[in-house]
Amino acid sequence: MPAPTSVPASPAPPAARAYLPMTRPEIDDETIAGVAEVLRSGWITSGPQVKAFEAELSAYCGGRPARVFNSGTCTMEIALRVAGIGPGHEVITTPLSWVATSNVILAVGAKPVFVDIDPATRNLDLERVEAAITPATRAILPVDLAGLPVDRDRLHALAARHRLRVVEDAAQSFGSAWNGRRIGTFGDFVSFSFHPNKNITTIEGGCLVLPDERAAKLAEQYRLQGVVRSGYDGMEVEVLGGKFNLTDVAARVGRGQLKRLEEFTAKRRELARAYFREFGTPSRRALGLGLPIADFEQSNWHMFQVILPEERLTVKRAEVMARLHELGIGTGVHYPAIHRFALYRRLGWKDGDFPRAEHAGRNLLTLPLFPAMTAADVARVAAALEDVLAAHSHS
Ligand SMILES: Cc1ncc(COP(=O)(O)O)c(C=O)c1O
Repeated sequence: MPAPTSVPASPAPPAARAYLPMTRPEIDDETIAGVAEVLRSGWITSGPQVKAFEAELSAYCGGRPARVFNSGTCTMEIALRVAGIGPGHEVITTPLSWVATSNVILAVGAKPVFVDIDPATRNLDLERVEAAITPATRAILPVDLAGLPVDRDRLHALAARHRLRVVEDAAQSFGSAWNGRRIGTFGDFVSFSFHPNKNITTIEGGCLVLPDERAAKLAEQYRLQGVVRSGYDGMEVEVLGGKFNLTDVAARVGRGQLKRLEEFTAKRRELARAYFREFGTPSRRALGLGLPIADFEQSNWHMFQVILPEERLTVKRAEVMARLHELGIGTGVHYPAIHRFALYRRLGWKDGDFPRAEHAGRNLLTLPLFPAMTAADVARVAAALEDVLAAHSHS
């Protein structure tokens, strides 16, 4: 028997696992080629691609007027301006959102009136809205956090009863529906964001769906310095507008994304179901995590967010995030309660004003969810979170 010529190799170390980010946009080759064409075309700022994108978005929104902008923030600010909301007016909104939601109310000179969230949906608690209405109230600005829609029947009935305008901050709910009707196909103003984290992206950008063409024309003026052109050389300015137009390059990205919206939503719902399966095992149920509402009809599953059981943990959320990061898993916080920010404290809000939003703001953790993920990725996240929580819980 020949003698072994070498020491048997030790088993290969497991391949390092790729970092799993919290989210990742998916831009296909056809879209990239389309962008290259736009770049070569000689027309790269707002032009034919913007027009085509707006037509496609309008078709998606049941034929309602749709206009695109360079963010999902200015869309809301412009909606408020078009609705005539400004100094002396109040706008009811949620304290649990990206700060853009209430910043735009301040930006037009109006006052945000926060109403605490419903802890189950994590959205504005419509039960409590009526009590916050005063003679100065002009609008409600609800947010569909993580893509779960606010009850549109109740919302619009309430607004109609009190003659209030509605600006839906649907930044996160493009692709969601309410009772079989797509968000954006009905209502007053509906604002979508196409930031890279959103379900479809234009890199930066947003879309405003408006109640009628007159409002859309005014929004176009606010979008570009208030300018109205006529004939070859006519120009008039009647309102103070800004610089909020979307480029054709960005619009071409959006057109490639819009085609895939249904596919992306279906994939996100499938992954959300996988999270529920993973967190449904007895050992994981015992972790005391707060899970989102298991809705697979209406939500576009923009995010999968759990609420950490702070009373059981020996560490803070940041530590949990750091441990997960070391395990190659990205997470996020969406969002700290707005009224606790220094700017808002200076305006008079304080800790304890909205305890449900504060609790969620301290403990929400956004887990990875994006269309290119697999069920195995979901299993990896759930197992890692279980390990981290088990290691840092009171026994
Ligand atoms: C709830 C909410 N509102 C508003 C915005 C603002 O959108 P944008 O970043 O496109 O300005 C975002 C996204 O960032 C959001 O998540």
